Amino acid sequence: MKVHRRAFLGGLAGSLVLTSRALAATRTLPEFTFHIVTDTHIGRQDGNTPIKQWKAAAAEINAAPGAFVLHLGDVVDSGREAQYPIYMDVRKTINKPVHEIPGNHDPQDLFAKYIRPQIDISFEHGGVRFVLFNNSDRESHMGFIKPPQLEWLKSELAAAEKADQFVVLCCHVPVHTNTHPDRGWYVKPADGQTEFYALLEQHKGRVLGLFHGHFHNGIRGWDDHKPVIESLFPSCCYNQDRKLVNHPQLAGFVVDDLRVGYTNVTLGGGKMTLAYKPLGAESTARHETAIS
Ligand SMILES: [Fe+2]
Repeated sequence: MKVHRRAFLGGLAGSLVLTSRALAATRTLPEFTFHIVTDTHIGRQDGNTPIKQWKAAAAEINAAPGAFVLHLGDVVDSGREAQYPIYMDVRKTINKPVHEIPGNHDPQDLFAKYIRPQIDISFEHGGVRFVLFNNSDRESHMGFIKPPQLEWLKSELAAAEKADQFVVLCCHVPVHTNTHPDRGWYVKPADGQTEFYALLEQHKGRVLGLFHGHFHNGIRGWDDHKPVIESLFPSCCYNQDRKLVNHPQLAGFVVDDLRVGYTNVTLGGGKMTLAYKPLGAESTARHETAIS
């Protein structure tokens, strides 16, 4: 994938506006695919359906060509500790790396105990730095990006700049402001949204996307912070129809599918493709965004 980068700005004027973009060079990113699972809610209503669906997703993912799995939170339902080992038993069957973040249903201490001691992490694949951080709270549906996390995110973006990597940021609760007919759950300006978007602006052209779970409404997103795509992904447990498709006042994008499933994301060919994958059915609905 050819991605446009501004060339270095020479001279005094250039040095005064030396930004992340100004330092970047034009280069080619290899095409690759990965999978996004979210909101598995293992143990929901004390039933077996969520674990059966997680097993089905794991089997499909094993047979698919994606390089790794992102799980965007709400691993178990309502903090049920006994469900984490059950989740992990299926996870262990997946033949590629799996990287989770907690959701508001996942107590941090249990996430650390069963999934990964360090909550906020990053990893690199194909020239893209994937930065995963917890912005959820067990007591709220809203998101919170705390000052120490903002400092850490600054260091992660600086490291990406140094390594000339693109960046994808993953957290359970969307940062983007939204109201009815969306759920109205997001990071308020006073809870870190203002500083977070200012940070993105400093690294414009480097950050490709913000990926979230939490809404259980299929693929839903916004592109008004272009070129950053902010997207929510379908639950692997249940999705609810909030009549977003063809809603007259709705800004952003919606993919017309609400079946239980996951998403295959492909970066390449100058675009990002979000392909909805309903469990046991063909992938037909998708959203494509040019990356430039
Ligand atoms: Fe959820």
